[in-house]
Amino acid sequence: LTGLRETVDFPLGVAIDSRETAGGPSQLLLRHFNQVTAENHMKPESWYNAERAFTPHEQAGAIMRFAQENDLAVYGHVLVWHSQTPAWFFQNEAGQPLTNSPADQQVMRDRLRAHVFAIAEHLSDTYGPFGSDTNPLNAWDVVNEVVADTGDFADGLRRSNWYNILGEQYIDLAFQYADEAFNEVYAAEGVARPVKLFINDYNTEQAGKRGRYLSLVERLLARGVPVDGVGHQFHVNLTMPVSALDAALAAFEDMPVTQAVTEFDVPTGTPVSQALRIEQGYYFRDAFNIFREYTDDLFAVTVWGLVDGRSWRSSSGAPLVFDDALRAKPAYYGAVGGQ
Ligand code: XIL
Repeated sequence: LTGLRETVDFPLGVAIDSRETAGGPSQLLLRHFNQVTAENHMKPESWYNAERAFTPHEQAGAIMRFAQENDLAVYGHVLVWHSQTPAWFFQNEAGQPLTNSPADQQVMRDRLRAHVFAIAEHLSDTYGPFGSDTNPLNAWDVVNEVVADTGDFADGLRRSNWYNILGEQYIDLAFQYADEAFNEVYAAEGVARPVKLFINDYNTEQAGKRGRYLSLVERLLARGVPVDGVGHQFHVNLTMPVSALDAALAAFEDMPVTQAVTEFDVPTGTPVSQALRIEQGYYFRDAFNIFREYTDDLFAVTVWGLVDGRSWRSSSGAPLVFDDALRAKPAYYGAVGGQ
């Protein structure tokens, strides 16, 4: 089979955990992909133990070493999120929720900075400076899902713990700390911006969410916040017109940012039938043809899992490119098709 990665001129990523770093799955992965994202093991909660000590997850190491040994890039996911984050992040020493008082805001800013720097220091200590030959990390989702799902708020931002304590500034600060840590303090000498800094969100294929996303990115860039890229998760389904993916990418095309498709999957609905698998094949064909049109603007495209049974949306019907027997589905033939 033609490697899917050979049919596109941007890096092609897949979300994994250590199960995909050995045996048959690793062979399939290496044939078709040249970038990986940790599906769960680089999320905020996975860097800390129950005693709140910074303790990198063994699976994050497995993924980094697998990438190092096989010349894959690693797209980091995720520094700041409202989900999969320890509850104590948003509490004071007495276990009370932090408020938006100046003192509590300072605690939250310090914690954010310490979190970002601990990850950067660990990854550079272990794998070499960012941008050096031994360190495969090329990007981070700095903030994830910060945009509100409804039009209820003038600023269009999700009312998360981060927001409620710090307000919109938490987004600026996350990028500023990440820039300092990943592109300055722990970067290889003479390498400029080795780690690209992304904002990432879902439903950007829908007009309302996209409008709020666009306004936020415009505000951030106007304030000089170091945002390199805009991520589109694209957790879609067969009823979402593929033209909506085009519209999402087109909206940011003229902005001074790169873009990424970060978490692509397209469940068929259930029960899964051969007719639906074939319809999904055409969907992947049309979607990948759109992605190819944006090659110059695309940092990477990532599918959110290697085989159907490992997908977080498998109960919605076979969302990915390969089946559980590691066989190529119509989705694969569509994606490579290019016609
Ligand atoms: C999902 C993982 O796939 C699941 O294994 C986990 O239980 C929950 O998170 N948006 C994101 C991803 O940014 O981190 C989420 O991943 C899917 C939605």
